[in-house]
Amino acid sequence: MRKSLVIAFFVTICFIAFVISKIVISILLYKRWKRKHVIYEGYTGGKMVIFRSSILKSLTTEMVLKKTQKLNNKDIIGSGGYGVVYELKLNDSAAFAVKRMNRGTAERDKGFERELQAMADIKHRNVVTLHGYYTAPHYNLLIYELMPNGSLDSFLHGRSANKKVLDWKTRHGIALGAARGISYLHHDCIPHIIHRDIKSSNILLDQNMEARVSDFGLATLMEPNKTHVSTIVAGTFGYLAPEYFDTGRATVKGDVYSFGVVLLELLTGKKPSDEAFMEEGTKLVTWVKAVVQEKKEELVLDSSLGSCCPMHEVNKVFNIAMMCLEPDPLDRPTMAEIVNLLEKTETGS
Ligand SMILES: Nc1ncnc2c1ncn2[C@@H]1O[C@H](COP(=O)(O)OP(=O)(O)O)[C@@H](O)[C@H]1O
Ligand SMILES: [Mg+2]
Repeated sequence: MRKSLVIAFFVTICFIAFVISKIVISILLYKRWKRKHVIYEGYTGGKMVIFRSSILKSLTTEMVLKKTQKLNNKDIIGSGGYGVVYELKLNDSAAFAVKRMNRGTAERDKGFERELQAMADIKHRNVVTLHGYYTAPHYNLLIYELMPNGSLDSFLHGRSANKKVLDWKTRHGIALGAARGISYLHHDCIPHIIHRDIKSSNILLDQNMEARVSDFGLATLMEPNKTHVSTIVAGTFGYLAPEYFDTGRATVKGDVYSFGVVLLELLTGKKPSDEAFMEEGTKLVTWVKAVVQEKKEELVLDSSLGSCCPMHEVNKVFNIAMMCLEPDPLDRPTMAEIVNLLEKTETGS
C-alpha cells in the first residue's frame, strides 16, 4: 500500500516536472520567435540583392540586411535630391554608402530593378561601384562603395571649417578623371548611358583624390515627377544645357554642357548657384564667357589657387570649358575628345 503511494507520488512529481519543463520550453521558444520576428518584421516583402564582388564575398546578405536596418541619423553623411545617404560600416575593412529613396509605382520598380542589374555590370576606375540594392514596400536602398573624401562640391563650396584647398594639379586630375568616367558611360557602355545629372556633388573623391562619377541613370530610375523636380532644380542652379528647356530631352551633349559648368567650378571656385550671380541677374557661365572673351581669365581664377599656378594650362582648360558650353550642341566636343584635350593640357603640350 505504502509502496504504491510512493510510486504514485513520484509519478505525479514527474508529470508536474514534465508539464513545467514543457511550459518553460514553450515560453523560451516563443520569446526567441518573437525576437526574430521583430528583427525581420521590417523586411516583409523586401528583397536584398548583393552583386558578387571581392569585398562583399565574405559577408552574408543577411548580415548586410541587419546592419542596414540599424542605420540612424548619426550615420547620415549627406542628403540631396534623391534621398538621404548613410555610412554603413560592416567591419574594419568594409564600409559602404547607402542611399535611401522612396519607392515609386510597381511598374516603375520593375524598371528600377532591371536598370540596377545593368548598372552592376558597369566597372570603371572613375565610376562609383554599385554593390547591391534592397527593395522594401515603402523605400529602396542603393548600396554604393564609400568615397572617403566625399564630393567635389563639398571640397569647393563646403563650410569654411572643413573646406580644404585643392591645388591646380589635383583639380586637373579630378577634371580628367571625371571626363574619363563620363566618356566611358557615353562611348564604351552598351547600351550607352546618358548621365543626365552631371554636377560637382555627383563627382566623388576616393582616398587618392581621384574622381568617381556617381548617380548616373538615377534620373531615369526616379518617378517622372521627381525627376522633373530634380531637373528643374539642377537647371535653376545652372547645370542644364540651354536646349534642354526647349526639347526636354536628355542627350550626351547635354552632359557635355554640364561638365563644362563643373570645369568652371574647378577654375573659379564659384558655385553655379552663387547668390552674387542671382543678385546681378547673371550666371556663372555668362560671367566667365565675357571674361574669357577679353582674355582676362586671371580675374576669375579661384584666388585660393595662389600665384604659382601654371597659367598656360589654366587658359587651356578655360578654352575646353568654353567649347563644352557652346550654345549649339553640335559645336560641343564629345567626352572622348574632351579626355584627349585634357590629357594634352597635362603634358603641357
Ligand atoms: N558613395 C558615396 N560616398 C561618400 N559620400 C557620398 C556617396 N554618395 C553620396 N555621398 C554624399 O551624400 C551627398 C548626397 O548625395 P545625393 O543624395 O546623391 O545628392 P546630391 O548628389 O544631389 O548631392 C553627396 O553630396 C555626397 O557628399
Ligand atoms: Mg548624388
